[in-house]
Amino acid sequence: MRMKTLCMAATLLAAAVPAWGQLQAKELRLATIAPNGHVWIKVAELIKADLDARPDLDLQITLFPGAQLGGEPETMQQLEGGLIDIGMFTLAGLTTRDPSFNAWFTPYLLKDVQAAGKARTTPAAKQMLGNLTSQGMVGLGYVFAGMRSIVAREGVIRTAADIKGKKVRITPFLAAQTWWSAMGAVPTPIPLGSVYQAMQSGVVDAIDIDLDAVVNLSLQEVSSSFTATRHMSWGGVIAASGSTWDGLTDAQRKGLTEIVDKAVAQGIEIQAAAESAHLAKVRSAITVVELENGEEAFADANKAFAEKFHDIPLVSEFQSQVKSQ
Ligand code: BEZ
Repeated sequence: MRMKTLCMAATLLAAAVPAWGQLQAKELRLATIAPNGHVWIKVAELIKADLDARPDLDLQITLFPGAQLGGEPETMQQLEGGLIDIGMFTLAGLTTRDPSFNAWFTPYLLKDVQAAGKARTTPAAKQMLGNLTSQGMVGLGYVFAGMRSIVAREGVIRTAADIKGKKVRITPFLAAQTWWSAMGAVPTPIPLGSVYQAMQSGVVDAIDIDLDAVVNLSLQEVSSSFTATRHMSWGGVIAASGSTWDGLTDAQRKGLTEIVDKAVAQGIEIQAAAESAHLAKVRSAITVVELENGEEAFADANKAFAEKFHDIPLVSEFQSQVKSQ
């Protein structure tokens, strides 16, 4: 972990509790890179409120959104070391721990947030969560945002040809790199907190992002169009630190698991309901295009994805289980 991030994390964590030495086991710290206002933060706030409403569980949560404690590699390390208790990590970030998570990015497998929510009930999705124990994490549940789409700085993206040679901001992980390279774009990794400036200054020509993040980061202010390609789902995992989990009572584990399950289900409904309001907001500022034929229009990139990941058994199992749901 970089020294600057470590110092920043230690300062923030120290401010959140009475004193380092008096840290109570029941005070849980939750970190995520999702920005304030994002649906994942709403899910985290629901968990916090439900824990507050269950004093019998003797658990409280302090939230650290917006990468306050560092990026995902750093916060995953903090979780493993027990410095934080709960992480809300992108599935993209988790692919560095388990490549099976790439399954969630199969282009055009999941059509919307409800379909993604349903996919979390497949045995393959559950197995991916279970496999996290080998990483010192206990997977408590999945959390979802809107589908990935494209905001463009200039002009409108309607076809694969429109994206060719363009610098496209991606979250850096293999599925996005594979798909965007096959699109003929120049995949450009930029952390979420820097995308507004990157777009404004012309460091990138377009951004691969979910609609919720577009609205919460006001990207319509620095873009000319939004193309609803809905090419991939965008999910995350709520994971507890293994050491924190071991220190909880059975009743606390059961209560926390139930509360997370409920908040995840509510988050899916919140996101589904917000979609049209988000689109209307973006439409009032820039051109919005609904791309209905992404499966055909981006066939080469979709094929490149399939070829890259078909050797991972859990990826294929997930795909076939989702198709038969
Ligand atoms: C992103 O990197 O695009 C992202 C990360 C967390 C939440 C939403 C979007």
